[in-house]
Amino acid sequence: MIIETERLQLRQMTQEDLPALAAILQDKEAMFAYEHAFSDEETQAWLDRMLERYRNDGYGLWAVLLKSSGEMIGQCGLTKQKVEEKEVLEIGYLFQRKYWKQGFAIEAAKACKTYAFETLHADEVYSIVRDNNIGSMNVAIRNGMTIRCRFIKHYYGIDMPHNAFSIRKEEYFSE
Ligand SMILES: CC(C)(COP(=O)(O)OP(=O)(O)OC[C@H]1O[C@@H](n2cnc3c(N)ncnc32)[C@H](O)[C@@H]1OP(=O)(O)O)[C@@H](O)C(=O)NCCC(=O)NCCS
Repeated sequence: MIIETERLQLRQMTQEDLPALAAILQDKEAMFAYEHAFSDEETQAWLDRMLERYRNDGYGLWAVLLKSSGEMIGQCGLTKQKVEEKEVLEIGYLFQRKYWKQGFAIEAAKACKTYAFETLHADEVYSIVRDNNIGSMNVAIRNGMTIRCRFIKHYYGIDMPHNAFSIRKEEYFSE
């Protein structure tokens, strides 16, 4: 286990988590910001990429489990991403729709922020959010982040405006 919070545990995903992962990535509503529900192949490729990130970087999006039941309800963690040409550390979060609006994303995201600054000794950590994704932007704001810039991501054949939110080390340590 990598992180524990009041209600949640975060650990690396494994192949056995594929069905729980599919419950998020193959849900068109949960994936509205990605413009499509993932196919089985895309879901497996996503998992494979996370396993590769664990091996190469030591972190990635982790499985978020409910401590009360052991169920995987979402993913939250840290990945390397690009903001225009700059490589940044990002906190990402995606949860099964039936668990939304219960404070799970912010609980997991705050713990990942602590991990980024106190374990990885990051200088700055981002959350990069498509500009129509109000829920996700609210999680970033509640996580103490500020919009630093706006840029276009080309994904799924579409130009998607994104906002890059971040919190810097000195801001984190004075929270
Ligand atoms: C975005 C997402 C992770 C939020 O998860 P969640 O567990 O519902 O979020 P929380 O309950 O922790 O909410 C945190 C804050 O965001 C707000 N929020 C969450 N969803 C919201 C929504 N759809 N609209 C407006 N505000 C929202 C909450 O009200 C809360 O703020 P508050 O405490 O000030 O009231 C979830 O909706 C999701 O998985 N979406 C699909 C995947 C996705 O788009 N991920 C982000 C990619 S950048």
